[in-house]
Amino acid sequence: MDFNNKIIYQIYPKSFKDTNGDGIGDLNGIIEKLDYIKDLGTDYIWLSPIMKSPQNDNGYDISDYYTIDPMFGNNEDYLRLIKEAKKRDLKVMMDLVLNHTSTSHEWFKRAVSGDMKYQEYYIFRDEPTELESVFGGDAWKYLPELDKYYLHMFDETQADLNWDCEALRNEIYEMINYWINQGVEGFRLDVIDMIGKNVETGEISRTPRFYELLEELNIKTFADKLLTVGECWGASFEQAQKMCNPKGLTQLFHFHDTTITNDEVKWDQKPLDLDALSALLARWNNSYDGINAWVLGNHDSPRRLSLWLNDDKYRKESAKLLITLYGFLRGNLYIYQGDEIGMTNAHMHDIKNYNDVETYNYYNEMKLKGISDKTTMDKIAVVSRDNARIPMQWNDTDYAGFSNVEPWLKMYEGYKDINVEKDLEADDSVYRYYQEIIKFRKEHSDIISETITFKTNGDILYFRKDNYVGILNFSDKISDIQPLGDVVFSNYHNVTHELRPYECIVFKI
Ligand code: GLC
Ligand code: CA
Repeated sequence: MDFNNKIIYQIYPKSFKDTNGDGIGDLNGIIEKLDYIKDLGTDYIWLSPIMKSPQNDNGYDISDYYTIDPMFGNNEDYLRLIKEAKKRDLKVMMDLVLNHTSTSHEWFKRAVSGDMKYQEYYIFRDEPTELESVFGGDAWKYLPELDKYYLHMFDETQADLNWDCEALRNEIYEMINYWINQGVEGFRLDVIDMIGKNVETGEISRTPRFYELLEELNIKTFADKLLTVGECWGASFEQAQKMCNPKGLTQLFHFHDTTITNDEVKWDQKPLDLDALSALLARWNNSYDGINAWVLGNHDSPRRLSLWLNDDKYRKESAKLLITLYGFLRGNLYIYQGDEIGMTNAHMHDIKNYNDVETYNYYNEMKLKGISDKTTMDKIAVVSRDNARIPMQWNDTDYAGFSNVEPWLKMYEGYKDINVEKDLEADDSVYRYYQEIIKFRKEHSDIISETITFKTNGDILYFRKDNYVGILNFSDKISDIQPLGDVVFSNYHNVTHELRPYECIVFKI
C-alpha cells in the first residue's frame, strides 16, 4: 500500500456541524459536509473519538469502544458515514485511545467492585509513586473501595490500562479488528507510545517494552494494510525510524514544530525561531526514511496562524504562507478543520467560556500560586486547546451555521468575517489556495519527495526544492526582492519588487 503524499483532514466532531439542534456536532453533520472536505483534495478523514464517553476529556475518555456516543448519532450513522465517504473516495480514520479508558468503562467498574480479572486490566498499586499527570497534579488516585491507588496519566477519570495483561491486549485487538471489519481504513493512535510505561522506574514513553507491544499490536490487527499514525510527542528522529515500519506504524506525530515556541511549559511562549524551525523541517524532509506526518493544526494546539503569524490584518496571507511552507514538505499533511479557511484563535479572556479540563487545571494551579487572573487568562487565551475546539464557522448567520442553538462551546465572535461561505465567495479565498497547493502536491509528487534547503534572513525564510524557490515573510516588515522566475504561488494579488507583510511567493526558476 502506498501511504505517501496523502491529505488527512481532522474533524473534531463536537464542533464540526450540528444537525439535530442540540448545539453539538454530529455524524450527520459530517456526512452533510463530505463534499466540502473532499473538494479540498482530502484522502482521509480522521475523526476525534466518537465512542461512548462521559466527555470529561471530550471523548478521549472512552466508556465503550463498540458504541457510538448518542450525542453524535448511532452505529448505523457511522457505517453510513463510512459508506458515503467511500463513495467519494475518502477513507475514514478512527481515533483509538488505547492507553486508558474512562473510569465509567465497564471494565473499570468491575475492577472497583472487586473483580480480580478486571483489576488486572488497570494499574493498581498499594502505594503511589512520584508520577505526575500530564494534565497537572498527582497521577495516582486513591480508591477507598479497594484501598488501592490507580494510575491516571491524564484526568482522574482516565484510568491507565495495563498492557502487561494479555487478556486486556486480546480484548483490544478484537475491538480494533471489529472496526476494521466495519470498513475503517486507518487509525490515529492516541498517546500510543505510553502503553509500555514502567511506573516503578517512572519511564513512561517509548520504553523498550513499548516497541515489543507495538509489534504485537501491529501483527494482531492492522499490520501494514492500513494507514496508522501514532501520537508520540517529542519522539526523536531515531525513535521514529525504529517504530515506523511495516511492523509498527506508518507514521507518527513528533510535534517538534508544534511545540517550537513553548518555553519551559507550553503556557509560556517565546518567539518563533526560524532557524530552528527550518533546521527541523529540513532534517525530517531530507533524511527521514519513513513517511513524515506534518501537522498544521489539531485539537490540542492553538491555531498556528495566531501563534506564529498575524491573525488580524494579514490573516489570509498568514494562512496561505503556512500551507505554502508545509505544502512543499515530503510526506503527509494533516489539516485541522477550519485551518483551510484561516480560522483563528478564539481569544477568550473569561475562564467561564472554557471547557477544556487541562485549561481548568492550569487555571486552578495558578490561582493556588497566587498568580493574578489577568496574567493567567492572557496565557490561556493564547495557548488553550479550546482555541481550536470552538465550533466551525460555516456562514454569518446565528451560531455561524454550525447550529441553530447556543453551541456547547462559545462561538468565536469574529465568525461574521471568517466563515466558509464568505471565504469561498472571496477572490482571495484561503480554501482555494489550499486546494491549489494540494493539487500541486498530487501532480508533482516527484518534486515533493525531493530534498529541501532553507536559508533565513531576519524574518524572511527562503526555501528551495528542485527548481522551486519560496520566499516567506514572517513579519510585517517590507523589503526589496528580485523576481526569480515564473510565479507559481503568491498570497498577494500580484508580485512586485517589494516583499510585503506576510507575503509569500514561490517561483519556478
Ligand atoms: C491526546 C489527545 C488529547 C487527550 C490526551 C489524553 O493527547 O490528543 O486530546 O487529552 O491524549 O487522551
Ligand atoms: Ca447534534
